[in-house]
Amino acid sequence: MKIAVLGGDGYCGWATALYLSNQGHSVAIVDNFVRRQWDHELNAQTLTPIRPLSDRLRVWQSLTGKTIESFYGDVCDYEFLAATICDFEPDAVVHFAEQRSAPYSMIDRNHAVFTQVNNVVGTLNLLFALREHRPDCHLVKLGTMGEYGTPNIDIEEGYIAIEHNGRKDVLPFPKQPGSFYHLSKVHDSHNIMFTCKIWGLRATDLNQGVVYGTMTDETAMDEALINRFDYDDVFGTVLNRFCIQAAIGQPLTVYGKGGQTRGFLDIRDTVRCIEIACDNPAGRGECRVYNQFTEQFCVRDLADMVVAAGRKMGLSVDIDHLQDPRVEAEDHYYNAKHSKLIELGLQPHYLSDSLLDSLMNIAIKYKDRVDASLMFPQVNWREPRNDRRLQMGKTARTSLAAPRFENGAAESLVRARTKSVRSKG
Ligand SMILES: NC(=O)c1ccc[n+]([C@@H]2O[C@H](COP(=O)([O-])OP(=O)(O)OC[C@H]3O[C@@H](n4cnc5c(N)ncnc54)[C@H](O)[C@@H]3O)[C@@H](O)[C@H]2O)c1
Repeated sequence: MKIAVLGGDGYCGWATALYLSNQGHSVAIVDNFVRRQWDHELNAQTLTPIRPLSDRLRVWQSLTGKTIESFYGDVCDYEFLAATICDFEPDAVVHFAEQRSAPYSMIDRNHAVFTQVNNVVGTLNLLFALREHRPDCHLVKLGTMGEYGTPNIDIEEGYIAIEHNGRKDVLPFPKQPGSFYHLSKVHDSHNIMFTCKIWGLRATDLNQGVVYGTMTDETAMDEALINRFDYDDVFGTVLNRFCIQAAIGQPLTVYGKGGQTRGFLDIRDTVRCIEIACDNPAGRGECRVYNQFTEQFCVRDLADMVVAAGRKMGLSVDIDHLQDPRVEAEDHYYNAKHSKLIELGLQPHYLSDSLLDSLMNIAIKYKDRVDASLMFPQVNWREPRNDRRLQMGKTARTSLAAPRFENGAAESLVRARTKSVRSKG
C-alpha cells in the first residue's frame, strides 16, 4: 500500500513511517520541520539527540534497503499539499501534522490562533486535496481522547445511541475539550465527518490517548534513528516527564490532586493501530471513530508506579503536588471504551515494570541533556498571556516551592512557510 505520513518527522509520525516501511508499505513523509523550530522558540530540546530527517532516511535505507520518500512543505499551503497528493498518489494518508501541545495553545492569543489555523486549515486543505485528486484514498486522522473531556458517563467510540422525548438516534458523542488545542481537534472532527457525508470521503478518526515510550523495533536499530523524547512543560507527556524527573532526582510534579484520569498507550501500539486502520479502510462516505489507547491511569497512580520503579533501581523519588495550571477536574469518573482496535487485532503492550525500567534507563543515559528548569509548568490556563521566558533559568527546586505565573509580552511565533521540495531516501 502507498501511505503518506503527514508529520512524519515528529514523535508518532517517525515511529509510524519506519514501522510501515518495515512492513513493506511504500511510505512518504510530509513535514515542514516546524516542530524542530518550536524547540528553538521554547529554548527546549528533546532528551534524545535526533538527527536531521535526511540523515535519518539515509541510515534507514542503508540498514534496510528500503526507501522512504520525503516531501518538505507546509500542509497549510494548498498548492504544495495538492501537488504532493497528485505526485505520490497515496492509498492512505496518515495525518499527524498538527500542533499537538495543549500548553502551547494556551500560552497566549498568538499561540491559540496559530494552533487553530495550523490544525484546522491543514486538515481542511487535506480534505479538499483528497476530494479533488484522490477521492478513494483513506484518511487516517489523529484526534485525541481529550476531545471528549471527562463526562460523568461512559465515553463511547465516537458515537452514542440516544433516546430523547421518545425518539432514538445515534449521534456524535458530546465533546468537552479542555484547551484551544483540543478544540482544534474537535473542529477537525466536525470537518472530517461533514466531508465524508457530502463528498463520500472515507475516514478513520483515531482518538488517541497519551503516548509513552520512545523505542520501537525500528527506531532501536541504530542511534541515528532514535525518536524524540520530549520532557519540557509544554511538549513533554506525563509519564515521560516523571521518568526523567526520577532519573535526575527531582520530585515528580503532580498537578493538583492527581486524580486526573486519561487513556494511555505505548508508542509500539500507536504504530500498530495505524497499520490496523490502514489495512481495514473505512467505506466510502464512512467516518469511523476509534478510541486509541490500551489502559487508563490517573496521574497519581502513574507517579506511584514511577516512585516504586525508581526505588527498585536505587533512586530516591519524591512527589510534589503543584497547583494545577490547567482548568480541569482533579478527581472524576472516567470510563472510556476502547475495544474496536482490539477487535481488529491490536495486541496491547501494557505498561509493565520492565517498560518503566527501560524508560528510566533512557532517561539516565541522556540525563546530561536535561534542563531541570523546563520541568516546572509555566503556562497557566487562567491567564490570557503567559511569558515563559521569565521563568527560564530558575532552578526547578525554587520554582516548585513557589509556583507562579507571570504576564508579559508574547513570544513571537516562528512560522515555517516553506517551499515545496521533494527528495528521495
Ligand atoms: N504524542 C501524544 O501523546 C499524542 C496523543 C494524542 C494525540 N496525538 C496526536 O498525534 C499527532 C502527532 O503527535 P506527535 O506527538 O507525534 O507530535 P509532534 O509534534 O512530535 O509531530 C508533529 C509533526 O507534524 C509536523 N507539522 C506540524 N504542523 C505542520 C504543518 N503545518 N505542515 C507540515 N508539517 C507539520 C511537525 O513538524 C512535526 O514533525 C498530533 O496530531 C497529535 O495531536 C499525540
